[in-house]
Amino acid sequence: MATIPPPVFYPPFNITRVSYAAMTVNDMERSLRFYTRVLGLVVSAREGNVAWLRGIEEVGHHSLILRETTEEPRCERIGFRVLTELELDKAHEHFQAQGLHAAWVDRPHQGRTLAVRDPYDMPVEFCARMTLMPRRTIETDHFPGAAALRFDHLQVHSADIPGACAFWTSLGFRTSDYVVAGPEDTLTGVFMHRKDIPWDIVFMPGPGPRLHHFAYGTPSVQDMMKACDAAGIHGFGQLVERGPARHNQGHVQYTYFRDPDGHRVEIIPESPKQMLDLEQEPVRWDEAKRKATMDWGYPAPQCWYDDATPFAGVTPKPGMVVPNRISLEQYLAARAKAS
Ligand SMILES: [Fe+2]
Repeated sequence: MATIPPPVFYPPFNITRVSYAAMTVNDMERSLRFYTRVLGLVVSAREGNVAWLRGIEEVGHHSLILRETTEEPRCERIGFRVLTELELDKAHEHFQAQGLHAAWVDRPHQGRTLAVRDPYDMPVEFCARMTLMPRRTIETDHFPGAAALRFDHLQVHSADIPGACAFWTSLGFRTSDYVVAGPEDTLTGVFMHRKDIPWDIVFMPGPGPRLHHFAYGTPSVQDMMKACDAAGIHGFGQLVERGPARHNQGHVQYTYFRDPDGHRVEIIPESPKQMLDLEQEPVRWDEAKRKATMDWGYPAPQCWYDDATPFAGVTPKPGMVVPNRISLEQYLAARAKAS
């Protein structure tokens, strides 16, 4: 029987939220066209082969870093914010005591930054501040595509969901939802958060660690649909991978895109759920039953289950086979056979 570890209300240091992803791309102009025209992100800076982007509501300098390379596209690191500089020192001390690699690194446009390898070798960074940028939320003449507001969450394929859940719980992350499957009631997914919505980081089963997707929040469903239209207009229409539809966990509507390098990005309207009160218990979902609950839309295509972006220099470990999982291809084949 899968169990979720109890929350840690006084963690060793104070993480406030997920903050950024750093990705490599093969054609910077093509990627900037996608991220500024389809998602509606703002370019905060561009220096050499690197571009820093942010959502229109974000005052932190960047939430997406793109670095052009001729090598296979990768995720170089994911970033989290901590409350103050003091929390960074506490984090350094904590990770060193845990025997994890933790080192100070220089990152442009952000304050002192601690680079850490989690127990699965995933490259994670923490910082307390970034260069301030103007909010663009009322400049409505300049809102292409989704007019993405802010970096919302990211999802990671993990070869050890219980272990990942235990590690991030020890850092103060609470589980909003979890998924179980099969006769052993195996844990096959956890939705974890520090900020006041149900997710900052999500772990799903697969060879890992690999970055399954990162997500931006939009003001409305209409803005999400505008992103689909913008994708069509700008030649990215075939990159709409899944949706629009609605998730049951968190009850949020969604659309998944693959960017021109295959990195997956999700667009969602702002979360309909608030997660602040500590007596809220994690919601349990059974893999076999959840399609019969409140979500709608076709099952995910097989590529959505299989594909993810490797982390630079990290060799993924094999993931578990999830029982009772149905892909779009299997669903359509079964429907054709029945008709
Ligand atoms: Fe997501």
